[in-house]
Amino acid sequence: MIFGVLVSGSGTNLKAILDARDERIEVGVVVSNVATAKALDRARSAGVPAVVVDHKAFAGREAFDAAVVEVLRAHRVSCVVLAGFMRLVTPVLLSAFPDRVVNIHPALLPAFPGVHAQRQALAYGVKVTGCTVHLVDAGMDTGPILAQETVPVLDGDDEAALTARLLEKEHAVLPRVLRAIAGGGLTVTRAADPGARPRVGLR
Ligand code: GRF
Repeated sequence: MIFGVLVSGSGTNLKAILDARDERIEVGVVVSNVATAKALDRARSAGVPAVVVDHKAFAGREAFDAAVVEVLRAHRVSCVVLAGFMRLVTPVLLSAFPDRVVNIHPALLPAFPGVHAQRQALAYGVKVTGCTVHLVDAGMDTGPILAQETVPVLDGDDEAALTARLLEKEHAVLPRVLRAIAGGGLTVTRAADPGARPRVGLR
Protein backbone atom coordinates (compact mmCIF):
# COMPACT_ATOMS: atom_id res chain seq x y z
CA MET A 1 0.00 0.00 0.00
CA ILE A 2 1.27 3.46 -0.81
CA PHE A 3 1.29 5.78 2.18
CA GLY A 4 1.59 9.54 2.17
CA VAL A 5 3.08 11.00 5.33
CA LEU A 6 2.27 14.53 6.49
CA VAL A 7 4.81 16.14 8.81
CA SER A 8 5.70 19.47 10.36
CA GLY A 9 8.82 18.82 12.41
CA SER A 10 11.54 16.42 13.38
CA GLY A 11 10.07 13.33 11.74
CA THR A 12 11.27 10.55 14.01
CA ASN A 13 7.99 8.73 13.39
CA LEU A 14 8.51 9.25 9.66
CA LYS A 15 11.93 7.62 10.06
CA ALA A 16 10.31 4.64 11.78
CA ILE A 17 7.92 4.29 8.84
CA LEU A 18 10.73 4.66 6.28
CA ASP A 19 12.75 2.01 8.12
CA ALA A 20 9.74 -0.30 8.10
CA ARG A 21 9.25 -0.19 4.32
CA ASP A 22 8.73 -3.62 2.81
CA GLU A 23 6.44 -5.29 0.29
CA ARG A 24 3.42 -3.96 2.22
CA ILE A 25 4.56 -0.48 3.24
CA GLU A 26 5.58 1.94 0.51
CA VAL A 27 5.98 5.68 1.16
CA GLY A 28 4.90 7.55 -1.95
CA VAL A 29 5.45 11.09 -0.74
CA VAL A 30 6.17 13.15 2.36
CA VAL A 31 4.41 16.50 2.62
CA SER A 32 5.40 19.20 5.09
CA ASN A 33 3.70 22.51 5.78
CA VAL A 34 7.02 23.76 7.20
CA ALA A 35 9.87 24.25 4.71
CA THR A 36 12.58 23.82 7.38
CA ALA A 37 11.22 20.57 8.86
CA LYS A 38 13.97 18.03 9.49
CA ALA A 39 11.51 15.38 8.33
CA LEU A 40 12.00 16.61 4.75
CA ASP A 41 15.71 15.74 4.91
CA ARG A 42 14.86 12.31 6.25
CA ALA A 43 12.54 11.74 3.27
CA ARG A 44 15.11 12.94 0.74
CA SER A 45 17.84 10.76 2.27
CA ALA A 46 15.51 7.80 1.93
CA GLY A 47 14.86 8.61 -1.72
CA VAL A 48 11.23 9.58 -1.14
CA PRO A 49 9.71 12.68 -2.78
CA ALA A 50 9.50 15.51 -0.23
CA VAL A 51 7.06 18.30 -0.98
CA VAL A 52 6.47 21.55 0.89
CA VAL A 53 2.93 22.93 0.92
CA ASP A 54 3.13 26.10 2.97
CA HIS A 55 -0.16 26.66 4.77
CA LYS A 56 0.55 30.40 4.90
CA ALA A 57 0.13 30.58 1.13
CA PHE A 58 -3.54 29.58 1.36
CA ALA A 59 -6.63 31.55 2.32
CA GLY A 60 -7.99 28.81 4.57
CA ARG A 61 -7.65 25.25 5.82
CA GLU A 62 -9.82 23.83 3.06
CA ALA A 63 -7.76 25.37 0.27
CA PHE A 64 -4.58 24.13 1.94
CA ASP A 65 -6.02 20.62 2.29
CA ALA A 66 -7.09 20.64 -1.37
CA ALA A 67 -3.50 21.35 -2.39
CA VAL A 68 -2.24 18.55 -0.13
CA VAL A 69 -4.81 16.13 -1.59
CA GLU A 70 -3.59 17.00 -5.07
CA VAL A 71 0.00 16.12 -4.12
CA LEU A 72 -1.09 12.88 -2.43
CA ARG A 73 -3.16 11.84 -5.45
CA ALA A 74 -0.31 12.66 -7.82
CA HIS A 75 1.79 10.15 -5.88
CA ARG A 76 -0.95 7.48 -5.91
CA VAL A 77 -1.34 7.52 -2.14
CA SER A 78 -4.15 5.42 -0.68
CA CYS A 79 -3.56 5.97 3.04
CA VAL A 80 -2.45 9.16 4.78
CA VAL A 81 -0.40 9.25 7.98
CA LEU A 82 -0.22 12.35 10.17
CA ALA A 83 3.17 11.97 11.84
CA GLY A 84 3.75 15.10 13.86
CA PHE A 85 1.62 17.15 11.48
CA MET A 86 0.63 20.26 13.39
CA ARG A 87 -2.44 21.28 11.40
CA LEU A 88 -6.08 20.40 11.91
CA VAL A 89 -7.37 18.66 8.82
CA THR A 90 -10.73 19.37 7.21
CA PRO A 91 -13.36 17.24 5.47
CA VAL A 92 -11.57 18.10 2.20
CA LEU A 93 -8.76 15.71 3.16
CA LEU A 94 -10.94 13.29 5.12
CA SER A 95 -13.45 12.77 2.31
CA ALA A 96 -10.64 12.22 -0.21
CA PHE A 97 -9.33 9.32 1.94
CA PRO A 98 -12.33 7.91 3.82
CA ASP A 99 -11.26 5.92 6.91
CA ARG A 100 -7.70 6.11 5.62
CA VAL A 101 -6.24 9.04 7.55
CA VAL A 102 -4.24 7.90 10.58
CA ASN A 103 -2.75 9.99 13.38
CA ILE A 104 -0.36 9.25 16.22
CA HIS A 105 -0.82 11.08 19.50
CA PRO A 106 1.48 10.98 22.54
CA ALA A 107 -1.17 10.21 25.18
CA LEU A 108 -3.76 7.57 25.96
CA LEU A 109 -6.73 9.22 24.30
CA PRO A 110 -9.28 10.40 25.24
CA ALA A 111 -6.91 11.73 27.94
CA PHE A 112 -4.80 14.76 27.07
CA PRO A 113 -5.81 15.61 23.49
CA GLY A 114 -4.36 18.57 21.62
CA VAL A 115 -0.91 20.05 21.95
CA HIS A 116 1.61 19.39 24.75
CA ALA A 117 0.09 16.05 25.74
CA GLN A 118 3.23 15.12 27.70
CA ARG A 119 3.09 18.40 29.63
CA GLN A 120 -0.59 17.81 30.36
CA ALA A 121 0.16 14.30 31.65
CA LEU A 122 2.96 15.55 33.93
CA ALA A 123 0.83 18.43 35.20
CA TYR A 124 -2.04 16.06 36.00
CA GLY A 125 0.27 13.66 37.81
CA VAL A 126 -0.74 10.45 36.03
CA LYS A 127 1.49 7.43 36.71
CA VAL A 128 0.85 5.84 33.34
CA THR A 129 0.49 7.50 29.98
CA GLY A 130 1.13 6.22 26.46
CA CYS A 131 0.51 6.73 22.80
CA THR A 132 -2.51 6.24 20.58
CA VAL A 133 -2.80 5.51 16.89
CA HIS A 134 -6.24 6.44 15.65
CA LEU A 135 -8.27 7.17 12.56
CA VAL A 136 -8.78 10.88 12.08
CA ASP A 137 -12.28 12.33 12.11
CA ALA A 138 -13.48 15.93 12.08
CA GLY A 139 -12.67 16.44 15.78
CA MET A 140 -9.33 16.99 17.46
CA ASP A 141 -7.81 13.61 18.43
CA THR A 142 -11.28 12.09 18.67
CA GLY A 143 -11.32 9.43 15.94
CA PRO A 144 -11.66 5.65 16.39
CA ILE A 145 -8.72 4.13 18.24
CA LEU A 146 -6.62 1.57 16.35
CA ALA A 147 -3.89 0.84 18.92
CA GLN A 148 -2.53 2.08 22.21
CA GLU A 149 0.66 1.41 24.13
CA THR A 150 1.32 2.37 27.73
CA VAL A 151 4.39 4.09 29.14
CA PRO A 152 5.15 4.66 32.83
CA VAL A 153 5.62 8.16 34.17
CA LEU A 154 8.62 8.02 36.49
CA ASP A 155 9.46 10.21 39.48
CA GLY A 156 11.61 13.07 38.31
CA ASP A 157 10.46 12.86 34.70
CA ASP A 158 10.52 16.11 32.80
CA GLU A 159 8.85 16.68 29.46
CA ALA A 160 11.97 15.68 27.52
CA ALA A 161 12.44 12.39 29.39
CA LEU A 162 8.78 11.43 29.04
CA THR A 163 8.74 12.43 25.38
CA ALA A 164 11.76 10.22 24.65
CA ARG A 165 10.17 7.22 26.41
CA LEU A 166 6.94 7.77 24.49
CA LEU A 167 8.67 8.12 21.13
CA GLU A 168 10.30 4.74 21.54
CA LYS A 169 6.84 3.16 21.81
CA GLU A 170 5.43 5.34 19.03
CA HIS A 171 8.12 4.15 16.63
CA ALA A 172 7.12 0.54 17.23
CA VAL A 173 3.35 0.83 17.21
CA LEU A 174 2.87 3.10 14.18
CA PRO A 175 4.57 0.83 11.59
CA ARG A 176 2.75 -2.14 13.12
CA VAL A 177 -0.62 -0.47 12.54
CA LEU A 178 0.30 0.61 9.02
CA ARG A 179 1.37 -2.92 8.13
CA ALA A 180 -1.98 -4.24 9.37
CA ILE A 181 -3.89 -1.64 7.34
CA ALA A 182 -1.81 -2.41 4.26
CA GLY A 183 -2.62 -6.08 4.73
CA GLY A 184 -6.34 -5.35 4.60
CA GLY A 185 -6.76 -5.85 8.34
CA LEU A 186 -8.80 -2.72 9.08
CA THR A 187 -12.57 -2.86 9.27
CA VAL A 188 -14.77 0.08 10.22
CA THR A 189 -18.41 -0.53 11.08
CA ARG A 190 -20.87 2.31 11.56
CA ALA A 191 -24.09 1.86 13.49
CA ALA A 192 -27.37 3.32 12.25
CA ASP A 193 -27.18 5.88 15.10
CA PRO A 194 -25.02 8.69 13.67
CA GLY A 195 -24.02 9.64 17.23
CA ALA A 196 -22.46 6.24 17.97
CA ARG A 197 -18.73 5.82 17.62
CA PRO A 198 -17.68 3.64 14.69
CA ARG A 199 -16.37 0.22 15.67
CA VAL A 200 -12.98 -0.62 14.31
CA GLY A 201 -11.24 -3.93 14.02
CA LEU A 202 -7.54 -4.30 13.23
CA ARG A 203 -5.81 -7.60 12.81
C1 GRF B 1 4.98 12.68 18.22
O1 GRF B 1 5.05 12.70 19.62
C2 GRF B 1 3.58 12.38 17.78
O2 GRF B 1 2.89 11.53 18.65
C3 GRF B 1 2.94 13.75 17.78
O3 GRF B 1 3.95 14.62 17.32
C4 GRF B 1 5.23 14.06 17.63
C5 GRF B 1 5.97 13.99 16.35
O4 GRF B 1 7.31 13.64 16.54
N1 GRF B 1 1.74 13.79 16.98
P1 GRF B 1 8.22 13.30 15.29
O5 GRF B 1 8.17 14.51 14.36
O6 GRF B 1 7.69 12.07 14.64
O7 GRF B 1 9.60 13.12 15.85
